[in-house]
Formats: sequence, C-alpha cells, structure tokens
Amino acid sequence: MSDRIHSLGGYIHEYQKSVQDPETFWASIADSFHWQKKWDKLVEWNFDEPKVEWFKNAKLNITENVLDRHLYTRGDQAAIIWEPNDPNEEHITLTYKELHAKVCQFANAMKAKGIKKGDRVIIYIPMVPEAAIAMLACARIGAVHSVVFAGFSASALADRINDCEAKMVLTSDGNFRGAKQIPVKAVVDEAVENTPSIETVITLKRTGQEVTMKEGRDIWWHDAIDGVSTENKAEAMDAEDMLFILYTSGSTGKPKGVVHTCGGYMVYTYYSFKNVFQYNQGDVYWCTADVGWITGHSYIVYGPLLAGATSIMFEGVPTFPDAGRFWQVCDKHQVNQFYTAPTAIRALQAFGTEPIEPYKLDSLKVLGSVGEPINEEAWHWYHDHVGKGRCPIVDTWWQTETGGILISPLAGVTPTKPAYATLPLPGIQPVILDNEGNELKGNSVEGNLCIKFPWPSMLRTTYGDHERCRQTYFSSFAGHYFTGDGVKRDEDGYYRILGRVDDVINVSGHRMGTAEVENAINEHPMVVESAVVGYPHDIKGQGIYAYVICDMEGRSEESLQNEIKQTVTKIIGPIAKPDKLQIVPGLPKTRSGKIMRRILRKIASGDASNLGDISTLLNPEVVEAIKEGAQ
Ligand code: WT7
Repeated sequence: MSDRIHSLGGYIHEYQKSVQDPETFWASIADSFHWQKKWDKLVEWNFDEPKVEWFKNAKLNITENVLDRHLYTRGDQAAIIWEPNDPNEEHITLTYKELHAKVCQFANAMKAKGIKKGDRVIIYIPMVPEAAIAMLACARIGAVHSVVFAGFSASALADRINDCEAKMVLTSDGNFRGAKQIPVKAVVDEAVENTPSIETVITLKRTGQEVTMKEGRDIWWHDAIDGVSTENKAEAMDAEDMLFILYTSGSTGKPKGVVHTCGGYMVYTYYSFKNVFQYNQGDVYWCTADVGWITGHSYIVYGPLLAGATSIMFEGVPTFPDAGRFWQVCDKHQVNQFYTAPTAIRALQAFGTEPIEPYKLDSLKVLGSVGEPINEEAWHWYHDHVGKGRCPIVDTWWQTETGGILISPLAGVTPTKPAYATLPLPGIQPVILDNEGNELKGNSVEGNLCIKFPWPSMLRTTYGDHERCRQTYFSSFAGHYFTGDGVKRDEDGYYRILGRVDDVINVSGHRMGTAEVENAINEHPMVVESAVVGYPHDIKGQGIYAYVICDMEGRSEESLQNEIKQTVTKIIGPIAKPDKLQIVPGLPKTRSGKIMRRILRKIASGDASNLGDISTLLNPEVVEAIKEGAQ
C-alpha cells in the first residue's frame, strides 16, 4: 500500500503534502478502509468551541476494518498471541477468524443483555484476550467502551462508572500478576454498591478464586456466550460517533473522560502504527502496555489489528519469574517490534545485563519507548543491550488526548537522537509558544508545545463537560491545542519533550494530577491540609512527594504516614500512593494564600540550597522546619 513511508526523502515529501493539502493527504490514506458510506467533507474544525469533525457523514464500523476485512486475506494468521503471567502455562493464539467469531459472539451476548448503540460499558478486565474481545464487541454494536485500569480502587472505579452512567461492567474473577493473585470482581462488587446505572456485571473466570454472584445482576462470561451465535452484523456508525471514553488525570482533582470517535481514530492509529514501527506483513509486534491506558487501546488493539498485524498481549510483569521475562517472551514468539516504557527499561537496567544473556534477541528489528522522557542512560542501555546496536529506537511522544503518536522517529527511516522524540508525523503541525502565546519560530527554541492544526485522532470533547475540554486544552493559547508539555526544538529542528508544565506528574509513565492525590490524602480524618509535588525518581521517572499537615493527637508519625498512604491506595489505587510523605507544621504560602509549590518541589528534589526569595511569604518560618524534616 502507498501509505508506508520508506525513506527520509519520502517522509519529507509526505510531510509537505500533508501540510499543503491536508484533505488530499488524509483522503488518500482513508481510501484504503472499508466505509459503509464515504464522507461528504474531509475535515471541518475550529479550535474555539472547539469543534472538530473528520470524515463528515461517513458511515463505518471500525471492527469491519479490524476483523472482517482481513478474513479472506489473513483469516488464519494470528491476530492476538496471548502470553500468560506464568511461563509454564500455555499461550493462546487467536487467528483473525477466531477473534472475529469471539467478538461477534460476545457482541450478541451484550445485546441480549440490553446493550445498544450509544450505551456506555465499563471494561475492568486485566490483561487477558477477553479485554480486547470486550472492546471490539462494544465497537461492533456501537456501545461506547470505557476501560478502567484494573489496578484502580473501587471508589475510583465507581466515580468513572457514575460519570458516564454506564449500564454494564465487564470484569474477571481475579488477576494473576507476578507472584500475586489479585481480586478483581470483589473490587467491582464494592464499586457497584454506589452506581445506580449499572444493570449487569459479566465476569470472566480466570483465576478460579471464589467470588460472590448476585442474582439478577451478575452473570458469568461463559454462561453469557453459551449457545450464542458467532455471527453479527456490524452496527453502522457515523464517523463522529463516540468509539470510547478513557479517563485520565489532569490538573484538577477530578479525572476527565477523554472522548475519541470512530472514523478519525481508525485512520490515524492505523497510519501511525504502520509508519512508526515500519510493520511488515508477517512480523510479530509486542507492546507491553496495559489495555487500561491509551497505549493499550491504540497500539495493542486498534492500530495493529487495523494493519492486519500479529499483536502480543502479555498478562505478566517484567520481573516475574525473573528479570529476563521480557527477553524470554521476545525469543519465544520471535518478536520483531518491541514497545515498552522507560520505567520498565530502568527497572530492568538495575538488574544488569545478566538476565539478558541467555537470550538471542535476534528477531528484534525495532524498539519503542513511550510514556515519559527516556533519559540518555536508559536509551543507550536499551539500544546496546536489548537492540544489540542494530535496532532503531522510536521514542514516541503522544497523549491520551492525541489518540495516537504525534512526534516520533519512523523506525529506520528518519534519524534518531537519544532522549529526543525527533520529528512530527505527517499531518501533525506542532508549534512552540512562549507564555504570552507568541510563536517561537526557527531552531534552538524552548517553550510550550501546542498543535495548530487538527489531526484525525484528536479528542473531541471531555465526556459530559465540553466546557472543561475547551478550558483545559484550547483556552491557554487561542486557536491552538495545548498539550501541557514543555518542549525544546534543537539546532537541527528535532523536538525534545521536557515534561509537564502543569500540575500533572508522570509516575512510571502514568499520569497523576497532584490535586487528585491531595484530595485523596485529605479524606483521612486527621489531615488538615496537604500539598503534593513530583520529584526525580531513579526508576519511576517521577515519584510522589506529599507534604501533610495533621492533627497528631498523640499519634506516632509513622503510623499516621502509613494510614494516609493507605487512604490514597483505597481512594485511587496503589499507583497513586505517595513514595514519600512528610508531616509538616505548615505549608509555605503567599500572602494571597496560594501554596508556593516551587519551594516544595525544590526541597523534594533534595536541593534546598537556593530557594529564592522567601521573604514575601506569609509564613517564611515553616520553610526551615520543612527543610529539616525533609526525606
Ligand atoms: C504525557 C501523556 C502516550 C501514552 C502514554 C502516556 C508524557 C508521553 C512521552 C515521550 C516524553 C512523554 C508527556 C505527555 N509522555 N510520551 N515519548 N517523551 N514524554 O499517556 O497518560 O496521556 O500521558 O506523557 O508528558 O503529556 P498519558
């Protein structure tokens, strides 16, 4: 197909075409899909409301492009290879034909339970093939899926269910993860006590652990599909109908539901997958992300399957049974493209090269990185020891909101540079703005990363609150989408992401709002006030540092610290638990009562030497006390 770029010259040519005439550019890519009806207008947009529409009035079903389209050409090829947590358990291969049948069957089962086009369905399923089957089955019947990472707590799950008023939850009894067996259904049970919209819970048997099933609400997955037809006629969806909602954290306390739509998301995830990873037919591709995050949506399920790829889905963790597990799986399945997160690379780097040595890793052609800036040391380790110096690394920058990779090398086609995401994909028009909104043109500039032209897979709204979408992404810099990231364009024109410029921290590639963690901390009855900041962490990239004012009432600091951390785990989940928690007598505040986070960030980073002018603070004396008690 003509939509794969093969050379640097080809990239430059395609990029120019995409900017000069976006409509012709995207139409030629979209033409290769199966549309039930073609579009009247390719794109219509304004970034003020904002309102963005791609492939206007076109009709399609994304699953016809993910599944049906491949049945004659590669029906017997593996679509998904599932590798279980325990290396001694058999892996499962689902061909395109088998996946098609399972998706259609589960789609029918959901329909039989009253789910119809437009209904929201929550997927709280760990990394088993049924998570992908569930997503595609929703898309098949036009239900809107919202996958919630199966590590979130019951209260975080309930908030998401209530925000989108979902009718159904799909889940599993439990989850095998490393040496642990984690309850999953029990979390759902607790969540749905406070979610009036939920009518049905369908539970997959995975671990066999005991669960409670409530009459009239609960049904087993295997019972739901028993005797159900494996044929299903795909629902006709408008290109701008919702495909899914995915909740993500921002600078306010409440996660927001990022909305992606059918047509544009399909075209862009396919195009970016093919070009960034330079996927060839027959290759085996593995992305280690969880389906609970956007990376799992776009680059385990939709992008690869749209491209007719073989996509590996891995249930386990990088260090179980030992730190060689990733490499064992690479050799076992002869993986060609491997896509993971810097935090995993750093964690494995800490074990040295010994766990890699037993493996050949000679099938690898491309290595990918996503989620946070990859530091040079980790980049080189990945390049030299995993890629043996012969695999290009694609450092892919993107966000839940962008739906797909926006800035990244194209493997082996465009240059790489350690710690740089390098160049925008065709169709993506990044600009760097200073704080006043002036565009910084030319090279060797640094500022706020914005995008000035729409791309097909950009978010359309935040569910149920369009004003919040406008406020968050389109109001800081008029006429631009604002990413929240700082960026540098170096002397050669390559982009290097510098990290968030807002109150969002990136912990192991997972986005956390500081306000969200503070809200959770404040739920503890003895907490008076708290402030959360990020600090540099060797493995996680950023760690969570919480400063907390407490009513001690004779309690020991240690027991309170533990209790407060537990509160956060309970309200959000273990991923939000503070790494460090300092009980302080006060928080540094300006005369208008605003917490001076700059000071707290410096102290958290272990550098309290030059805090700047603190004399204008309302309470300069607390700074000394905080410095003394710093961890
Ligand atoms: C934020 C988005 C994209 C899927 C995973 C995270 C940071 C992401 C990179 C990268 C530097 C990166 C940014 C971005 N980020 N990729 N290659 N280099 N930073 O998705 O949870 O929506 O987080 O992750 O800060 O804004 P997300």
